[in-house]
Amino acid sequence: MTLEIGVDSSFAQSISERLQSIEARLSASAFGQTPFVTEVASHIINAGGKRFRPLLVALASQLYPGADDDAIERAAMVVELTHVASLYHDDVMDDAELRRGADSANHRWGNSVAIMIGDFLFARASSIVATLGVEYVTLQAETFARLVQGQIAETRGPAADDDPVGHYLQVVADKTGSLIAASAVFGGMVCGAPQPVLQALAAFGEEIGVVFQLSDDIIDIASDSTGKTPGTDLREGVWTLPTLLVRSADDPADARLRELIGRPLDDSDELAEALGLMRSHDALAKARAEVDRRAQVAKDHLSRLPASVAREALYELCDQIVSRSA
Ligand code: IPE
Ligand code: IPE
Ligand code: MG
Ligand code: MG
Repeated sequence: MTLEIGVDSSFAQSISERLQSIEARLSASAFGQTPFVTEVASHIINAGGKRFRPLLVALASQLYPGADDDAIERAAMVVELTHVASLYHDDVMDDAELRRGADSANHRWGNSVAIMIGDFLFARASSIVATLGVEYVTLQAETFARLVQGQIAETRGPAADDDPVGHYLQVVADKTGSLIAASAVFGGMVCGAPQPVLQALAAFGEEIGVVFQLSDDIIDIASDSTGKTPGTDLREGVWTLPTLLVRSADDPADARLRELIGRPLDDSDELAEALGLMRSHDALAKARAEVDRRAQVAKDHLSRLPASVAREALYELCDQIVSRSA
């Protein structure tokens, strides 16, 4: 995701330089005791990715002057390494073959290696976060616990008496919102933001994190060019907002589609049929409207931050996330 900040080009330039420096350090952090470990651990890091979480750290770190550049970069590495570790595990869980346009680690080296390398990268994140201080360690640990529990809740699905949409939104907040919130808060912590601002950053980050995942779930249906295999959620029978909306509308015209969604689709013809029906369904437009609505909620939290170029950039970032799935 390239950030196009219209408000101030020297600010955009300095953020872009910060991200380049983070990039080099991320690659180095994947170094292991054997060439094999280094190869597998570097594989998904070097395959690219939007670096949305490091970007959020970098932007929030500029809300107040004086953040230490090295601390910004270490905080950014922590959130990206935690994210990448979760991707290694997620691709095992989702039986995904493609990640960031490359073979997923599980597809190339098998599930056991992918799981262990995910753990290895999480250990690297832990070493780095320890250098930042105990408040950072605590937030990262709590965040990872939430993320993992979100992944488990998704796998287990809603209980019989749960509202399926409520369950899904809780999963999204936990598996994705938590780490994106922590990214914004880390940025605030490195520049010494006061407590009320850290709280606003947490609320903003969690909300924009939910928007980010809702967008990603729309893209899973709507787009063929994400570097991931389209229709993975449909194939795995994972409910997301668009399919939940079809389910709750209970429209007789959706009889065939309702028969296809919410269960694993191993048959490629059935998957293509479900994807085609979902792509032309108005549930997609309704899901996009929800993305718009919640992006506005995220923006409302930004009003509690100090007026600054960094805050303007965060507003712009919200629009860019919405336009990804528009
Ligand atoms: C993928 O995250 C998993 C989700 C939370 C949707 P990203 O969309 O940030 O993936 P990369 O880092 O750009 O590959
Ligand atoms: C990924 O969720 C969330 C985490 C990695 C914690 P998804 O399974 O929806 O993400 P993608 O589509 O594989 O990137
Ligand atoms: Mg997945
Ligand atoms: Mg998943």
